[in-house]
Amino acid sequence: MKIGAGRVVPPFRVMDVARAANERAATLPPGAPKILRMEVGQPGTGLPQGAKRAVQAALQSGDALGYTEALGRPPLRARIARHMQDWYGVEIPAARIAVTLGASGAFSLAFLASFDQGDKVALAAPYYPPYVNTLTALGMRPVVLPCGIETGFQPTIGMLEALPERPAGLILASPANPTGSMLAPEELAALCRYCDEAGIRLISDEIYHGLTYGKPQASATQFSASAVVVNSFSKYFSMTGWRVGWMVLPEDLARVTERLAQNMFICPPHIAQIAAEAAFACGDELEANRATYQAARGVLVEGLGAAGYATFAPPDGAFYIYADISGRAADSAAFCEQLLATHNIAATPGLDFDAARGGKFVRFSYCAPLADIEDAVARLKQPG
Ligand SMILES: Cc1ncc(COP(=O)(O)O)c(C=O)c1O
Repeated sequence: MKIGAGRVVPPFRVMDVARAANERAATLPPGAPKILRMEVGQPGTGLPQGAKRAVQAALQSGDALGYTEALGRPPLRARIARHMQDWYGVEIPAARIAVTLGASGAFSLAFLASFDQGDKVALAAPYYPPYVNTLTALGMRPVVLPCGIETGFQPTIGMLEALPERPAGLILASPANPTGSMLAPEELAALCRYCDEAGIRLISDEIYHGLTYGKPQASATQFSASAVVVNSFSKYFSMTGWRVGWMVLPEDLARVTERLAQNMFICPPHIAQIAAEAAFACGDELEANRATYQAARGVLVEGLGAAGYATFAPPDGAFYIYADISGRAADSAAFCEQLLATHNIAATPGLDFDAARGGKFVRFSYCAPLADIEDAVARLKQPG
């Protein structure tokens, strides 16, 4: 039988690594050191308490929790609009907020609303793999801009100008996954201006906002009325499995996105939207989580250095370190397999994030409990 265009999509390897780690965990002999999970970007902190209480109340209220409007419950959309005002000082009408099935659900909506099949969309490498894989599945053409430590792994206007053809879109992520690097607000502003003038639709992935460790964060909404902003409750709000995120849409994409969302998803999960709205009131808990990641960041930055993994940029945000392991191994996939087998540490090979150069890099995630990160550092110092 025929297999469709989806056949060209590569795996999201981190999920394969997670499966291998689960399989190994299931067969560990009693008393063996547990598997330390540094492969996925899954906060170890769990659903905020206030969100849990709101879910319990909703379940007891007798509300049928049926479909919501396709772009989300009006109170949640209004609350997100207020958040945009509180964090960035921008006034966005709730009509331009779309609640989505995580940031992941937002990407397919944003890409289909913004681009046609065959359109070129530029992005920096290393990148979050689903950008490239989802664009490819939708028949769009990712244009990868190889970025290095000298530009903080972020793209520049010069790189866009050097392209033989102007792309239809640009994806930015700040803080970025896998590097944790950030654009300075003035760099983001300049890229927004450039894209607006050149007619390039900017998609700004702001999922790691709130998880920054000293550098100022800015949103593309502050500088551009035509950018699409993607965000999520998965990271700062610690709600990965609830599958709820949001977009700030430019006016010209609001209705087309709504039509796509109606047809593709009907609506995001109702109960998760209730949890998400309540999570906004859990600021103290969320800030305590952030402080834990900051402590883990310090432990891992120092520990990796001491364990001989010297080549990485200290991350500005998110909860990842993207380390060059070329001095220790020729191939990061084999290196990660070995690390799991000998040290019971799961980490992600860089090939997921950069098909051309990722064989030299490994991503370590540091959002697991702090004790696990301390344990990981101790284990990494031991020979394999
Ligand atoms: C940069 C980036 N964008 C988007 C996502 C997807 O997040 P969500 O759980 O909201 O679908 C992730 C998840 O790790 C990510 O790292």
